[in-house]
Amino acid sequence: MDAGDRRGLISVNRGLLRHPAVVGAGSAALVALLILNAVAFMRGLESPWLLGSVIVADMVVIGVGVLIAAREVLVAGDRVEATQAHLEAIVDSAMDAIITVDVSQKIVLFNRAAEQVFQCRRDEAIGSALDRFIPQRFRGAHRGHIEHFGKTGVTSRRMGDVTTLWALRAGGQEFPIEASISQAGEAGEHFYTVILRDITIRRQREDELKRREQELRDLSARVLEAREEEKTLIARELHDELGQLLTALKMDVSWLRERVVADAELSKKAVEMNAMLDETVSATRRISANLRPLMLDDLGLADAAAWLVEEFGKRSSIRCTYKEFGDGALDNVSKPVATTMYRALQESLTNIGRHSAAKNAWVMLGVEGNMVSLEVEDDGRGISPEDIAKARSLGLKGMRERITYLGGSFEVGRAARGGTRVHVKVPPGAAAVHA
Ligand SMILES: Nc1ncnc2c1ncn2[C@@H]1O[C@H](COP(=O)(O)OP(=O)(O)OP(=O)(O)O)[C@@H](O)[C@H]1O
Ligand SMILES: [Mg+2]
Repeated sequence: MDAGDRRGLISVNRGLLRHPAVVGAGSAALVALLILNAVAFMRGLESPWLLGSVIVADMVVIGVGVLIAAREVLVAGDRVEATQAHLEAIVDSAMDAIITVDVSQKIVLFNRAAEQVFQCRRDEAIGSALDRFIPQRFRGAHRGHIEHFGKTGVTSRRMGDVTTLWALRAGGQEFPIEASISQAGEAGEHFYTVILRDITIRRQREDELKRREQELRDLSARVLEAREEEKTLIARELHDELGQLLTALKMDVSWLRERVVADAELSKKAVEMNAMLDETVSATRRISANLRPLMLDDLGLADAAAWLVEEFGKRSSIRCTYKEFGDGALDNVSKPVATTMYRALQESLTNIGRHSAAKNAWVMLGVEGNMVSLEVEDDGRGISPEDIAKARSLGLKGMRERITYLGGSFEVGRAARGGTRVHVKVPPGAAAVHA
């Protein structure tokens, strides 16, 4: 008979015995027997048949009582067994390894998942010390932790909150686990149960993900760096090569103009050519500076930033205030940091121009502690978390990526006076690509 059948039987029988009709009839019969006993006691000598029948009835009742009591004891035993079997089935079907140890940390329960995880048969594990499944170097500390846990009186807790826990397979191979511990019982009969999970595969996947993430970061940094180098090259060529050619052309046009003063039409054409050349020279400078201001490489971050803010102020109707602070250590920032800060400022100002509807903008650049700090604030409509998370917007995300790559911090949010505030901090000597 299996546990299920036994449970069915028990419940039917117990239910029948406790049925109100059965209980009522039994009580009535007992009362009647009690009255008969009293009558037989008083008139027993006059009616020996009455005395005899009452004694027989008493014996039958006592006999039935003894039988019911014995049966109840057996049924209770069955119930305990069935519950035990049910619990064992649950423990055995659990996906996590479950190990119970007694106060001396000897294993008393070892489920099927534990057999698989530790590659050890249950009958080999039961009765042995828990230590065999813990790497040698952690044994002392682990024993201490369990004893300490026993004294805390806490019923259960997660193990190894901060560090990774390591366990040992029967074959001697270490593997990372995630575990929780609980305790139950009294002083003499105290048990600790550890529920644990092998996280080797998860750890491998996490490590792989981290590695890929780092590779993508390096790649994106390298792409940005290459783009920056290309922009610098084009900016230089535009400025130097084209600039020089245009200057030479301008000198030639001046020479021509001086020689055609007699011809009014030619002279007018020469003046127009001269004006157009002036425009071309300034357009070339503008395009070159927009690509990458050469002063960023030649004069440094502070001058390039001041120029950018001034230019932005001239082109837009926003009143811009630029302020430098710190002790001049801005001259010593590495090239990647200077480029990153400059691009962060450029993107912040472009955003102010495009999205803020602000009247004023404030830019503060300097050294704060041992970090280069840039703060750009406006008094416009402000920014919301949804704005920052827009899937198609890449300006702020690119900024954050570049800055965190250099080991810096990036904050964007509502400014105290209502607009938007971007705050960037980067270590001045940060290098472009991770070693
Ligand atoms: N100074 C600002 N004031 C108000 N809203 C802003 C400000 N700066 C950014 N935003 C909001 O945040 C969003 C994201 O900005 P982000 O620079 O990332 O992208 P974008 O400017 O929309 O596009 P791009 O990829 O060309 O930069 C903007 O679309 C805008 O709604
Ligand atoms: Mg933008």
